[in-house]
Amino acid sequence: MTRRNLIISGALSAFHLGAQSAAPTVTLPKLPYALDALEPFIDARTMEIHHGKHHQTYVDNLNKALATQPELAKQPLDQLLKNLSAVPDSIRGAVRNSGGGHANHSLFWQTLGKPKGGPAGKLVKSIEKSFGSQTAFEDKLRTAGLGVFGSGWVWVVPNGADSLSIETSPNQDSPWNAGKTPLFGLDVWEHAYYLKYQNRRADYLAAVLKVVNWDFVSARYEDLSK
Ligand SMILES: [Fe+2]
Repeated sequence: MTRRNLIISGALSAFHLGAQSAAPTVTLPKLPYALDALEPFIDARTMEIHHGKHHQTYVDNLNKALATQPELAKQPLDQLLKNLSAVPDSIRGAVRNSGGGHANHSLFWQTLGKPKGGPAGKLVKSIEKSFGSQTAFEDKLRTAGLGVFGSGWVWVVPNGADSLSIETSPNQDSPWNAGKTPLFGLDVWEHAYYLKYQNRRADYLAAVLKVVNWDFVSARYEDLSK
């Protein structure tokens, strides 16, 4: 199994952990750092509620939906999200919203970490090619994040030919829904920042960019590029 598969299946398809007699279930992934690891940029209380309450609710509601469709629950979540039209009407909304929420947050937690170095390797070249510089890249990410009306995400998506594009999505939609695999996404729901930043999404976006785990993102980019 390649690193790419490990990352995707490890985060997104914990379906196989359930008892064999029942529908497989997804579980809340552990944070790869302490709740206060991202202080002062992202506060521990926000992380506690965001991960322990919001993400847990997506997991619980996805499991309720998948319990009605045990065969579907055997598929990796990213495959369900890439082919929502094949999901029965009765649970399509739940898979889109709660399954999307689980997938998006599972990737998001891995994308963050204690501040250290910037992008490395192939990612550096693709950022320069696509945006001109790291500064211009982050400016465009912040602008795109500010432009999301209501709740949603801003995404960086490998675009072929060593280039990257920035996309946004409402609610818990994502590039997966369009059959693509995101490099990473930044959560711009108010629940990601309201306790510390209230309505100041621009301040949150500047802060969250200080705690992107570029080692993880750079390695994921190498894997997605293979
Ligand atoms: Fe969130």
